[in-house]
Amino acid sequence: MASTKYRWLAEYYDHLYEFRRPFTTARKCILKPVMPGVESACDLACGTGTHALEMAARGIRMYAVDLSPQMCRIARGKARRAKLPVRVIEADMRIFHLPETVDLVTCEFDAINHVPRKQDLRRVFRAVARALKPGGYFSFDLNNRLAFEQIWPRNWFIDKDPVAIVVHGDHIPGTDRAWSDVEIFIRKGKIWTRHHDRVEEVCWGATEVESALEAAGFGDLNAWDAAPFFNDELTPPGNRTFWRARKR
Ligand SMILES: C[S@@+](CC[C@H](N)C(=O)[O-])C[C@H]1O[C@@H](n2cnc3c(N)ncnc32)[C@H](O)[C@@H]1O
Repeated sequence: MASTKYRWLAEYYDHLYEFRRPFTTARKCILKPVMPGVESACDLACGTGTHALEMAARGIRMYAVDLSPQMCRIARGKARRAKLPVRVIEADMRIFHLPETVDLVTCEFDAINHVPRKQDLRRVFRAVARALKPGGYFSFDLNNRLAFEQIWPRNWFIDKDPVAIVVHGDHIPGTDRAWSDVEIFIRKGKIWTRHHDRVEEVCWGATEVESALEAAGFGDLNAWDAAPFFNDELTPPGNRTFWRARKR
């Protein structure tokens, strides 16, 4: 089923989300030892395709998967303009299939937290394991419960002409669910239009993540707290974890 989420955010994602730069810093550190063996890869929940394009520019045979038709359209357009052979596939990360198995799957910016149900984590990991060659790597990051408790209830905004977003979210105490309502204001000349997107997330504890990875056939599990990579007030220690696992 095609997603209507990120309908408006997709359009202005690259314009607004400059702050996703620390993900690149973290990825370079976490994947440094494995990159020399990577000839093919998939960026899962690729968004506007920035990371997939970076990898393709290094000569890696690239696939990019996202559920949002708007994100896929933008990613395809960027690949076409950059003349880079990224194959963009509109699909759900719980059931996606690639035309070939690959050496690496990445999934960045808490995209896995976007699945609707907690039990979907196992489906995502199984689908990723199916997409990887034996010995292939999977790297991803997750928001933890602490992020839902400490960060999601805050209000914050980005004002970057011609777009401004106001984000207000919440979390029901004691649950593994949170949501953010994003009000998007777009200026065309002197006229502003207002739109709305909602992002909902679920989270898991480290033990749940480890046992789901092992059940899907992954070993060699490594985890890094995100705080040192971000060094900002939106990512205090314990809020986000980067993971790297290897298919057995
Ligand atoms: C926060 S954005 C991250 C995009 C990109 N990975 C990045 O780092 O900028 C989350 C992305 O996950 C995608 N997404 C959400 N649920 C998905 C699903 N079930 N399957 C595939 N993609 C999904 C959204 O469409 C969106 O592009």
